[in-house]
Amino acid sequence: TAIQRADYQAPAWWIDTVDLTFDLDPAKTRVLNKMRIRRNADVPAQALRLDGDELNLARVMVNGAGTSFKMDGSQLVLENLPEGNEPVELEIFTTCTPDKNTKLMGLYVSEGTFFTQCESEGFRRITYFLDRPDVMAMYTVTLRANKDAFPVLLSNGNLVDSGDLEDGRHFAKWVDPHKKPSYLFALVAGKLVAREQKIKSRAGKDHLLQVFVRPGDLEKTEHAMNSLMHSVAWDEARFGLSLDLDRFMIVATSDFNMGAMENKGLNIFNTKYVLASQSTATDVDFANVESVVGHEYFHNWTGNRITCRDWFQLSLKEGLTVFRDQEFSMDMAGTPSARAVKRIEDVRVLRTVQFPEDAGPMAHPVRPDSYIEINNFYTVTIYEKGAEVVRMQHNLVGREGFAKGMKLYFARHDGQAVTCDDFVQAMADANPASPLAQHLEQFKRWYSQAGTPTVKAVAQYDAAAQTYTLTLSQSCAATAGQVEKQPFVIPVEMGLLGQDGSALPLQLQGDSASTLSKTLVLTQAEQTWVFSNVAQSPVPSLLRGFSAPVVLQYDFNDAELLTQLAHDSDSFNRWEAGQRLAVRYALQAIQSDAPVAANVLPAAFVHALRDVLRHPTLDAAYKDLVLALPSEAYMAEQLDVVDPQRIHAVRESMRLQLAQSLQADWAWALETYGDTGAYRPDPVSSGKRALAGSALLMLCLAAQVSGDTVWHGKAYQRFKDAGNMTDRFNALSALVHSGAELAKPALERFHTLFKNEPLVIDKWFALQAGTCDRGGNVLPAVKQLMKHPDFSLKNPNRARSLIFSYCSANPGAFHRADAAGYVFWSERVLELDAINPQVASRLARGMDRWSKLAQPYRTAAREAIARVAAKPDLSNDVREIVTRALGND
Ligand code: ARG
Ligand code: ZN
Repeated sequence: TAIQRADYQAPAWWIDTVDLTFDLDPAKTRVLNKMRIRRNADVPAQALRLDGDELNLARVMVNGAGTSFKMDGSQLVLENLPEGNEPVELEIFTTCTPDKNTKLMGLYVSEGTFFTQCESEGFRRITYFLDRPDVMAMYTVTLRANKDAFPVLLSNGNLVDSGDLEDGRHFAKWVDPHKKPSYLFALVAGKLVAREQKIKSRAGKDHLLQVFVRPGDLEKTEHAMNSLMHSVAWDEARFGLSLDLDRFMIVATSDFNMGAMENKGLNIFNTKYVLASQSTATDVDFANVESVVGHEYFHNWTGNRITCRDWFQLSLKEGLTVFRDQEFSMDMAGTPSARAVKRIEDVRVLRTVQFPEDAGPMAHPVRPDSYIEINNFYTVTIYEKGAEVVRMQHNLVGREGFAKGMKLYFARHDGQAVTCDDFVQAMADANPASPLAQHLEQFKRWYSQAGTPTVKAVAQYDAAAQTYTLTLSQSCAATAGQVEKQPFVIPVEMGLLGQDGSALPLQLQGDSASTLSKTLVLTQAEQTWVFSNVAQSPVPSLLRGFSAPVVLQYDFNDAELLTQLAHDSDSFNRWEAGQRLAVRYALQAIQSDAPVAANVLPAAFVHALRDVLRHPTLDAAYKDLVLALPSEAYMAEQLDVVDPQRIHAVRESMRLQLAQSLQADWAWALETYGDTGAYRPDPVSSGKRALAGSALLMLCLAAQVSGDTVWHGKAYQRFKDAGNMTDRFNALSALVHSGAELAKPALERFHTLFKNEPLVIDKWFALQAGTCDRGGNVLPAVKQLMKHPDFSLKNPNRARSLIFSYCSANPGAFHRADAAGYVFWSERVLELDAINPQVASRLARGMDRWSKLAQPYRTAAREAIARVAAKPDLSNDVREIVTRALGND
């Protein structure tokens, strides 16, 4: 049954203190939970209903004596608690079985070490509790375990006592000085080693930073530690937010459902986002470590100090914290060009993953109104669109104004569990003259209305009057349960280019001054702006920097886009112009009845791309983004009826055309950027490696067609000689994706080299599952790889590397006319659901867009989803996804 946001009620009881004692044993862990609770005087007296899940209850005591209780489903109900508002001592003794916990929620064992994951509702799998974020308590935690097997015992806050016990056991006692909701509880116990760093904050306080990993992984933690130190310094410098703990710990585990978790003072991470060395991690991995370490650290203020009132407010902490980690990465990257690259990458994720979500069966507002399983709502809409909604506020109040808004937010709400409304209210109140304050109620529609708005621009130039009239109109398609949409507040940053690409001054009619860039705030269904003193018919550069998460429609002609691609001073729109042209030519070819031609791209566009590739001053990373074709998924979103094989064939043809017609230029690029010297994962040298990797792939693709395989030999040589994982993996990928004969020995060699590096073996599986489908070979290969001794469905990273890489990231191989890909998908969803529903439901999302498919794919896809839905004992997680998917028939 669905939970409704409108049904929110304050808790009937508060929990002020929690004293937990764990006797840790993988097969049977004992948990003694002593709580001091009291009635919430603001609500009518009610029974205490505590959440629990898969617990064995042994004893309940109230104020030191036995008590009556009953079970209502999985809830423990106490109806006869003392009346009045005096505190009550409640003691609950339960056991659980961590080594049988394959869901990886609550307390579980990974490679012999105990970990917890409590967000959102995992704490109830550890003990009975008011497992909701608006109940905040002070925690004291005592851990007891065998000392040899579990030498390190960690929990939130400060270590206040530790020592030996009888029978080879020992204990550690932790006190968290801050009150917190249960979802931020954590414990870790096992054989771990730590990299340590002492730091002094700006305010002069000493702190100990620790990164815990398995013995043997210590030399892979330097980058994570540096990222953590940078995060601490950045939050102080940019927002005046200091570390509020003596000790801050990060622990890595290889069994983790998500990326990482911001438990107070004890962040738990997927190893993928902690471990990095030049021989095992790519530049992208290094960048991800920095960004995720930052994200979790920034949660300490945005999430932990101020948390969510209920889970409908999830974006309050996630959208804001993603915005903060994006800004952190940009500030760390330094140069304007590197900032633009990061912005483009973030927008690419938004448009290829969130826009489809907003247009599909799982469409939901940034602040949802209802859910069946909250775990299904850790989505790109909550995270990435939520970050865009914060970014628009930043744009509307300015950088200084945003800092003021943050200050007011903390002044008002520190220590509280609040709502998304509270955040924008603080932003607006701190900036009363801003367009955000002027249009506050309307701006909040970004939180309540689902769907991606479309902004249509129409322009007219009057040469005689030297005026340029720009009309913007907005609309938003219906989404489930929301037919009519009200207009949004849409900041549209813009500029005008002359025909030669130079920037024209912008002067709105009635204004005395002019600027080169301006933000128009669209609030009505349609609005018009008139610019004066426009000396020539301009090319509009609209939605600069992607100033709002919308689809912009404007009837650009090819020449205008080529002008932008060559000259736009806004790096985002310069890139965007190339993408628009590529999508335009792709769609023409996809929608034509003729067989796919070899020259989908006109010569003028190819030349323009060559000019970018050879450009004397543009950064390599930026060039690589401009030269990259839009993904098949992005192309599919532009179509009402999707033939995945046709899209794949057209994109492959475009890629081959670029490979062949720019062959000399790719060779030049590889020569120019192919050797970055001593390894450093900074944006400039990462960009060079990325562009060199693309060049090598292009050369190998062209070689495959021409039959002259000299580049394959060179790629193999680069693969063997590489001094870092980025160059090595790029060379391996070039061989695999181009179908080179040398791919096979290279894959074997790679496995031998890295058989003891699980994160690298994940890459090895993912590469093979994501390869081009020559003759329908990928699915049989994936099935074969499932039998590989290194494969396990139980490990989420491994399952993602093989199964998701095939089902969700390789449309050309997955969408088979014989439906075998869909059958494979349904079998894996069901198999995974019995092990780990969260991972299963992520895989289930892979079929969200089935209803757009052309026949015969559409019918076969629907049947596969129906087969999953027909299973009687599905988890809530998967049931919600497949039910929504079928509802969209
Ligand atoms: N709060 C974590 C983060 O974004 C993610 C936790 C997700 N947990 C879950 N059960 N879905 O940093
Ligand atoms: Zn987060």
